[in-house]
Amino acid sequence: MVFEFTEEQRMIQETARNFAQKEVLPKAAELDETGRFPSELVKQMAELGFMGVAVPEDLGGSGMDNVCYVIAMEEISRACASTGVIMSVNNSLVCDPLMKFGSDEIRKEYLGPLASGRKLGCFALTEPGAGSDAGAQKTTAVKDGDFYVVNGEKNFITNAPEADYAILFAMTDKSKAHKGITAFVVDMKWMGVSTGRHEKKMGIKAAPTSSIILEDVRVPAKNRLGNEGDGFKVAMYTLDGGRIGIAAQAVGIARAALEDAVAYSKDRKQFGQPICDFQAIQWMIADMAAEIDAARLLTLRAAWMKDKGIRHSKESSMAKLFASEAASRAATKGIQIHGGYGYITEYPMERHFRDARITEIYEGTSEIQRLVIASSLVR
Ligand code: CAA
Repeated sequence: MVFEFTEEQRMIQETARNFAQKEVLPKAAELDETGRFPSELVKQMAELGFMGVAVPEDLGGSGMDNVCYVIAMEEISRACASTGVIMSVNNSLVCDPLMKFGSDEIRKEYLGPLASGRKLGCFALTEPGAGSDAGAQKTTAVKDGDFYVVNGEKNFITNAPEADYAILFAMTDKSKAHKGITAFVVDMKWMGVSTGRHEKKMGIKAAPTSSIILEDVRVPAKNRLGNEGDGFKVAMYTLDGGRIGIAAQAVGIARAALEDAVAYSKDRKQFGQPICDFQAIQWMIADMAAEIDAARLLTLRAAWMKDKGIRHSKESSMAKLFASEAASRAATKGIQIHGGYGYITEYPMERHFRDARITEIYEGTSEIQRLVIASSLVR
């Protein structure tokens, strides 16, 4: 076992860290306050090759591996968790299933523009009545010649208001339950596709979230990913990868909490000395650092397994479960270390606290991750 990054992995870490520090971090507070979509940062990330990191170059991506992807995700999310999730959705939830399940025609038409960052994607699985129970899809796709006619509503879709394309899941045969779900790639400009109001969220405010309404949308049959009935497996395969991205996002947020807490504790004086000299503060910092390292190692292991083509459902869930809960614990401690200053918006700690919270919910709640881990152990 070699605990060392390759030359390429070191290079992407340095590039992502410089970009995150110089371009992303200075804008993070404003993005959080206004909820503005960071289109200029997304464009810069596209130029750096961050929107399709693990997609081969001949398919329009950067031709790196998933370890590189999580390294870059951590750096971007350390600066701004909203920008991190915009990147993560495009990489993991959109490019990855197109790469794995798309026909040559689909890859050419959709994957190239998405992986190069000229276009942005979203992943439309969740519905008002199908959250954790992803198999309970109500959206329908009815075959009509060379088309499917799609009707339904998706909600809580990250990137939807800005997206060009969606990976869409719909029921083609209700009698078969989850085996009747089919996946498609859909152009958000097609007739009958519209987005609902932007959700006002607790955190990751600059990552736009809305519903998608589908009214008699005619989707060409050639836009199907895989066969009819493969949709649930497409979704689960995709989320196995997506959860690695969210774990990396959580590691980034946790690191922001730790680094900001350490800096503050060295600066803040009480009882005539910097508060970092007090053991009570040191213990909190030590716990944060140990948990962040553990979370990062779980995340890197899952990414490495994905690169090696080893089934990694359990390891992805472990990484996401541990990293997301560690991020929330780190931000809670960060606020405690800041005292009253952790509770006001002048300091970024309360943003880290709000941003961390969603990592325990989206792409499968902590409870769903425990379920995936446990079922792989007891089945
Ligand atoms: N890869 C491939 N196939 C898989 C799989 C995987 N990881 N996991 C399950 N499957 C297959 C099973 O083998 C099984 O196949 P058969 O029917 O052929 O036997 C089938 O799928 C059904 O599996 P289960 O019986 O385990 O399914 P379930 O309904 O009991 O539970 C679940 C599945 C894990 C709870 C799943 O519904 C789940 O992950 N729910 C959470 C949904 C989620 O994460 N949503 C996130 C939305 S996207 C998002 O959040 C994006 C964002 O905003 C950033």
